[in-house]
Amino acid sequence: MQTLALGRLYRDPTIQYKVASPAAPIWRFRLNATTAVYPGSFDPITNGHVDIILRSASLFDRVVVLVAVNHSKQTLFTLDERLELIRRVFADHPKVEAQSFEGLLVNYMKKHDIRAVIRGLRAVSDFEYEFQMALMNRKIHPQAETLFLASRENYTYVSSRILKEVFSLGACIQDLAPPIVIDAMRRKYPGRALSGPTQS
Ligand code: PNS
Repeated sequence: MQTLALGRLYRDPTIQYKVASPAAPIWRFRLNATTAVYPGSFDPITNGHVDIILRSASLFDRVVVLVAVNHSKQTLFTLDERLELIRRVFADHPKVEAQSFEGLLVNYMKKHDIRAVIRGLRAVSDFEYEFQMALMNRKIHPQAETLFLASRENYTYVSSRILKEVFSLGACIQDLAPPIVIDAMRRKYPGRALSGPTQS
């Protein structure tokens, strides 16, 4: 912070801060502002995702929830719908934003000067695929580091896929997805899951 006394401070888009000194060329230094991306399909966002995002936001200054555009994957919600649901869920959380990306995740990271990728681990069965992705991402972008957060116990069995399946067949998923998401799912499956317990 001492350096600030040297001159004017302004912020650039890569979260670097530049101090222009009257006597010297521009001083560049990095504050502890760190950003992480949390990529995924989010079709739709679940309470398991929300938990990982909130915990990531307690570790990083900014968390970009990155919705993957995958033309070969059929989704229940369009890209815009998935983004909007995330933005509405985190409307009051200044550290969290939602963006989309197409192609390689690491290209987005390079372009935006972001090094940290967050992924949640629910069970040992997640590990092999996640480990493979983390190593491949690091192979093609050596500065990329993947951080795994262990899912909260009550969400280890929750995935977007299984929520859509049980909801479409009439089960209530009340405490497994944000209310905004459940309303959106009701619109996709009219008349479904109006009542009933989430757990037996
Ligand atoms: O929600 P998901 O399906 O588990 O998310 C997987 C996702 C989108 C994070 C992963 O498939 C991905 O990063 N896709 C982008 C393409 C890419 O970079 N592939 C190389 C990873 S090794």
